[in-house]
Amino acid sequence: MSAAILTHPRFISLEGGEGAGKSTAIASLRDALQRRGHEVVLTREPGGTPLAERIRELMLGHRDALRGDGEDEPLAAEAELLLVFAARAQHVRQVIRPALQRGAFVVSDRFTDSSYAYQGDGRGLDPAWIAELERRAVGLRPGLTLLLDLDVREGRARTSGRDLWPDRIESEQDDFFERVRAGFRRRAAAEPERFRVIDASRPPREVGEAVAATVHAWLDSQS
Ligand SMILES: Nc1ncnc2c1ncn2[C@@H]1O[C@H](COP(=O)(O)OP(=O)(O)OP(=O)(O)O)[C@@H](O)[C@H]1O
Ligand SMILES: [Mg+2]
Repeated sequence: MSAAILTHPRFISLEGGEGAGKSTAIASLRDALQRRGHEVVLTREPGGTPLAERIRELMLGHRDALRGDGEDEPLAAEAELLLVFAARAQHVRQVIRPALQRGAFVVSDRFTDSSYAYQGDGRGLDPAWIAELERRAVGLRPGLTLLLDLDVREGRARTSGRDLWPDRIESEQDDFFERVRAGFRRRAAAEPERFRVIDASRPPREVGEAVAATVHAWLDSQS
């Protein structure tokens, strides 16, 4: 089994905490790439394939005791990590690699950096274990990662009231999300070649423009 990680120049990820605006900004990223004539595949994690979306449901669950389907059972942090990597292993093989191989750009709303931030910094699991899973189960890293950085409370205020039942992650407290944010920022500082940090506190149009400008500058630097 190969344990090398390939950094692919047509693979781009969007990262950030809850409500940072990833799912909103992804349209600007797609438009910027399409304007240059590229085929773009948009996808998200956890999920991205029918089976991986089912794993996402298992992982996130819903605190809906009325359903009585066992989803109020606590999920061990270790099980959460393995589920998210099971979904990612499928996602990479079924969707991401085939798209890259035919020459498309792939833009993923979250990828492995979220596992380091949420399951590593948030849940306290050993980053060396996560790195081992990344090498063996994923083997692929984005050439460019946009980190939408936002104050934790601001992000949660944006999403509050969106869901009737918060999922397992959304049910966490602010200190969990502060560790996640710090983890993302630390990784971005450690890998400045790959990461671009975007101030996500600005209005959606400005964030979208910053995302597009960042992608154009990055593509220009590649050619
Ligand atoms: N720059 C922004 N300023 C203010 N509100 C925003 C901004 N970007 C997105 N929003 C709004 O905030 C909410 C969360 O945005 P979005 O769903 O894009 O965030 P997300 O990072 O994908 O969140 P999640 O982590 O929950 O998937 C939405 O209601 C969206 O319309
Ligand atoms: Mg989203």
